[in-house]
Amino acid sequence: MNMQRTLLFVKPDGVRRKLVGEIISRCERKGWRLVGMKMMQVTREHAERHYAEHKGKGFFEGLIEYVTGGPIVAMVWEGNDIIPILRMMMGATNPVNAQPGTIRGDFANDFTQNIVHGSDSPESAAREIPLFFADEELHGD
Ligand code: RTP
Ligand code: MG
Repeated sequence: MNMQRTLLFVKPDGVRRKLVGEIISRCERKGWRLVGMKMMQVTREHAERHYAEHKGKGFFEGLIEYVTGGPIVAMVWEGNDIIPILRMMMGATNPVNAQPGTIRGDFANDFTQNIVHGSDSPESAAREIPLFFADEELHGD
């Protein structure tokens, strides 16, 4: 077993479109364990830190406006190899490549407004989880 934790958040469009339950349901049916969850308004500073790797790119400003444009629902999930598996379940960033059956393939049709975020590596998860959750907000075994 390779137990991992990952940061998943439902982006403002996903909350607005009432897809929070759908996304939680997919994770629960997969057998993963929810260890933290909160609804929150991300500030510009917080969004810029979270997406720091994209600073300077053409889509950065639009991305920050999008992700701060309404509340998100942030979660930490735990499961065997959850980091790469969640990325597969999310589907590709570009809607042209997002396969049916994935979250983005089923619900998104825009490059920026794509419903969910998921950590893309163990290093990203380790950096991102503390940006959203204090230790005491995570409920392990
Ligand atoms: P995320 O970090 O949110 O899980 O998404 P990702 O790994 O699939 O994609 P990434 O390359 O990290 O990009 C972060 C978010 O920026 C927006 N984006 N827009 N060309 C564009 O218009 C463009 N490229 C990226 C998306 O919201 C993407 O999820
Ligand atoms: Mg990313």
